[in-house]
Amino acid sequence: MTEQGRKLMTMIDAAVNGLSHLDRLVPTVQGLGRRHAGYGVRDEDYDTVAAALVWTLGQGLGDAFTPEVKAAWIKTYTLLAATMKDASRLAA
Ligand code: HEM
Repeated sequence: MTEQGRKLMTMIDAAVNGLSHLDRLVPTVQGLGRRHAGYGVRDEDYDTVAAALVWTLGQGLGDAFTPEVKAAWIKTYTLLAATMKDASRLAA
């Protein structure tokens, strides 16, 4: 559990820092998008995952999932998904 917690925090730290350095984050996310095309992920699948993510966060965070927090997650996910979808189209 300690090791899993450390990995999770490292990942969250990288994501949060990455948002302040989009120039470095974007190429990584573009690569992620191209790999996802290879996994068979289609554009519309991003909406399915968005709905599942928002629902799960709401369940996990409860009252802490304020409208502001929800809007921030949707904005972040939408940016990541749009970058991934664009990259997968360029690869096609
Ligand atoms: C912002 C949206 C998403 C992010 C940040 C994300 C992130 C990741 C990451 C980091 C991996 C590990 C493998 C790699 O780096 O290539 C992965 C794998 C994968 N993702 Fe996503 N993903 C997203 C959306 C989706 C969507 C919409 C689907 C389809 C429903 C999906 C399906 C998969 C599949 C099938 C794998 C491979 C799993 C495996 O073979 O073990 N992902 N994703």
